[in-house]
Amino acid sequence: MSEALVAIEKLNVSYPGATVSAHVLDSVDITIGHGEAVGLVGESGSGKSTVAFALLGLLADDADVSAGRAAFDGRENVFATKEAEALRGTEIAMVFQDPMSALNPLFTIGTQLIDIQRRRFPNERRSQLWARAERVLAEVGMPDAPRRMRAYPHEFSGGMRQRVVIAMALLVEPKLLIADEPTTALDATVEAQVVEALRRLRRRTRSSMLVVSHSMGLIAELCDSVVVMYAGTVVESGPVKAVLRKPLHPYTRALLACEIDPYADFDPEQELATIPGIVPDPARRPSGCIFAARCTESHARCSEPPPHRQVEAGHRFSCWQDASR
Ligand SMILES: Nc1ncnc2c1ncn2[C@@H]1O[C@H](COP(=O)(O)OP(=O)(O)O)[C@@H](O)[C@H]1O
Ligand SMILES: [Mg+2]
Repeated sequence: MSEALVAIEKLNVSYPGATVSAHVLDSVDITIGHGEAVGLVGESGSGKSTVAFALLGLLADDADVSAGRAAFDGRENVFATKEAEALRGTEIAMVFQDPMSALNPLFTIGTQLIDIQRRRFPNERRSQLWARAERVLAEVGMPDAPRRMRAYPHEFSGGMRQRVVIAMALLVEPKLLIADEPTTALDATVEAQVVEALRRLRRRTRSSMLVVSHSMGLIAELCDSVVVMYAGTVVESGPVKAVLRKPLHPYTRALLACEIDPYADFDPEQELATIPGIVPDPARRPSGCIFAARCTESHARCSEPPPHRQVEAGHRFSCWQDASR
């Protein structure tokens, strides 16, 4: 199948304000191929969750949404509509930052892993659903899965709970799995385990994935492609390898400079870089390049909207700077 699973073009989202409305997403394009994992990266407030929520039909009621195209699996005008709600929990599953929000404290994990499958496999017996749940729980790295099926959420650590939530998402056998900051609430050791569970999942299923994270490191571990967002705008996108090898937008370079290298020896003297300045107010977006005010390489012409350039297959960026610089 050549047509992508997800094709979003020119997605705009704004929220009404007291005087001016806040333009939170500005002409965002995102394509996710069948079986492809796409990472969405950017600082807090850049609009990543808004993209994820728009795909899930979960935006606030007062959100003003428009899109040039919003197709899912060959169907047009799906996202940000009532139709997206019908896909949730069947063709699209999600893993959020806080695993507790997805779990009911009153029921055992086994019961919840069975309930999640009922919409998908309405004619199967409980014993079949139980067996599948147990198998998938083991697959995401849950030790002693058969016994754990009878435990309650509070008996699990944060990382174990997130594995349960990933198992829940897997049991739906979705065409698209959306994970919004799946490891942000976890400490580093547990994070590595959850990343491993997601990697295992990628090897096993043909599901496409959208992984939302502020960490390029996490995205590099899990994804084929990356979309870099800044203040509601896509500034760069392309295959992970190409973007890491040659980040073309100054914002992508600044973001990478802020990352802790997970493979380097820990150096307590080394200070973590931060990008100076603040993200523009969505109600007062500049007319030119959105990053110009914080860019160390900006010029006079950056007061005009930058061109969209494509350098090699699928590697695009929006900047006045030349890629061959
Ligand atoms: N319901 C809402 N009403 C008004 N503004 C919102 C609403 N939800 C999100 N925003 C704004 O949208 C911007 C992007 O938020 P978000 O998508 O959560 O960013 P991220 O996930 O990248 O941290 C922020 O400026 C946030 O304040
Ligand atoms: Mg978010």
